[in-house]
Amino acid sequence: MAELSGRQIEELLNAAQQASSRAYAPFSKFHVGAAILTQGGEIFTGCNVENSSYGLTNCAERTAIFTAVAAGALSAERDLIAVAVVNRESAVCSPCGACRQVIFEFGPEAIVIYRAHSGEMAQTRAKDMLPEGFRLR
Ligand code: THU
Repeated sequence: MAELSGRQIEELLNAAQQASSRAYAPFSKFHVGAAILTQGGEIFTGCNVENSSYGLTNCAERTAIFTAVAAGALSAERDLIAVAVVNRESAVCSPCGACRQVIFEFGPEAIVIYRAHSGEMAQTRAKDMLPEGFRLR
């Protein structure tokens, strides 16, 4: 099971923080950024992208993961090593249920770190955030 150094965690959180500045969140005004680390050592980032039709909103975590898949950098069950999520509010916000399922697909063992603007943060594993996670293979 992969572990991350303090430097790697800091690098991911910084990348997520930068991504949060690109959030398109005119409706909720809740700006979120995510950064993921792949098995191949690459970092991909994402932000939340909202829509006038609210239900079409894509969370930062899923934007980052889908970007990595589209780039050919994420495909297997164990490719996702870590996910860092930051927001610009005081809430230490863990990934939503939909994102937990998407994270689980590519990395049940993935380390998930989430941090509020205050610096308060938490760390867990994908499989602990989604016990009995659904999978078809
Ligand atoms: N959001 C994320 O991007 N990630 C999360 O983990 C939770 C929620 C976004 C979706 C929406 O644009 C805004 O935050 C408020 O729900």
